[in-house]
Parts: sequence; structure tokens; C-alpha cells
Amino acid sequence: MQITELDAPFGAEVTGLDLNEPVEPDTAERLNRALLDHIVLVIRDQDLDAQAYCSGMSVFGVPMLQHRLAFRLPDCPEVSRIINREKMRPARNWHTDHTNHEEPPKATVLYARKLPTTGGDTSFADMYAGLENLSAESRERIGPLFTTNFMEADNPTYSAGDRDAFGGGARHPMVRTHPETGKKALYFHVTKATGVDGLEPEAVRPFLDDLLKQAIRPENTLRHRWRMGDVVICDNRCAMHSVDPNFDQREERLLWRIILKGDRPV
Ligand SMILES: [Fe+2]
Repeated sequence: MQITELDAPFGAEVTGLDLNEPVEPDTAERLNRALLDHIVLVIRDQDLDAQAYCSGMSVFGVPMLQHRLAFRLPDCPEVSRIINREKMRPARNWHTDHTNHEEPPKATVLYARKLPTTGGDTSFADMYAGLENLSAESRERIGPLFTTNFMEADNPTYSAGDRDAFGGGARHPMVRTHPETGKKALYFHVTKATGVDGLEPEAVRPFLDDLLKQAIRPENTLRHRWRMGDVVICDNRCAMHSVDPNFDQREERLLWRIILKGDRPV
């Protein structure tokens, strides 16, 4: 197995690994170290069924159930479909995943199953750097603040069952300390955070949008152009992601997503 830095501000490519085979403990350790060091790993050339994908990702953590009951794979419910069909909207805003949970996922994994001829890239942003990019005033202001997080009210792919099970109300610090690296990162979900301490509800979105504008620059982003066979894992504790929806929507884009159990942010 080779781990090579990407030609980008962060991220690394993993080659020579077949997740259909059991992963040796020292290989698992290298992979986990690399995820901490590089934030995003692009594992190339995988040919996996859902079970093999799921058990392969247990190298990094414990898969957890996702909301959107209707998008879970029936034979492997920890794997969920991300698709430009069935009223699913592209997650074009910068965000981290599932902040409606008290313990949001430590990592999100995406596996390319069907890709448009061009486009449909996923971008990632380093939120350690994102925090550093904020003005001193913004950093000082958000230091003590928490967001309150709910599933978006207007998302047509969330069922009543999803809302009962995962509705939200979770409160998270806007600056979190990564439990493994000890470094601080900017942390929020721009559409799930409907509340920020001390702000009127209508002031929340402009406030968060302004923080994103300050935090995200070309120097701390990585744009991933998908290839079939790519499995991409992202450390949600120090990164945000977004999709570029500017591709031919007549073509299907299907990713299989797994999220891995995380800690309560502190
Ligand atoms: Fe996401």
C-alpha cells in the first residue's frame, strides 16, 4: 500500500489496497494515522459490494445508521445512497454531516457507483485552517458560542420516521477540539444550525455565511474529481464538504455513503 500526498493543499491518495481483503493491523494503523495527518484520503480502484465496503470501513471506525430511511440499502442499512434522483437535492453548501446528532459522525465515506461524464466534483475544506482564516474578532466572538441543530424542515427526502428518530436539538460548540490531534477547528452545519447562542433566528444564516466566506479559501480546499472505484474518506471533525451540482442532471450520479460513529464535540 502506498500513501501519497495529493497535489492540493491537503489530502492523500491510497493505492495498492484492496478492501475485499482483510486489512492487517499495521496497515489499519497507517491508514488511521494518514487520515489524521491528511484529513481526506482517496482510496483508489475499489471494486466492492455493500458488505465489503462496510466491513472495509470498519478499519476506521464503527458505521452508524443514517437518516433518510428510504435511501438505505436494504441488504446493508449502514450504507445509504446519495443520488441526484428521488427529490434528493445536492448538498452544495459547505457543511459537516449529521450535526442533528449529539454524537455526530467522526468521518464520512463516499464510494463512487455511477458518475456523470463530467462534473459532480466533491470539494473539501480544512477547518483547522478555516478557523485560522477568520478575523481575530470573529474568532474571539465564536469561541464561547454553541449552535443548536435540527434536520432541515424543508427537505423532502426526510420522512416523518426520520424526524422522529433523528429530529435533533443537539448543541455543538462552534470551535471544537479534535479528540485525536488536539487541534482546534471551526465546526458547524450551515443549514442544520438553526440557532446560534445570542442571535435572533433570522440573523443565524447570514452570520454563518459570513464565517464561511472568511474561512474557506482556495488555499484550504481540495476539489475531488471522481473516478469510478474511488472511496473517499473525510475527517468530519476538522473538515467541511460540498458538492458542485453543475453537471448534466440527465445523467445519474450515485455515491454510496457510510458515516462512522463519533464523539460529542467539545
Ligand atoms: Fe454531506
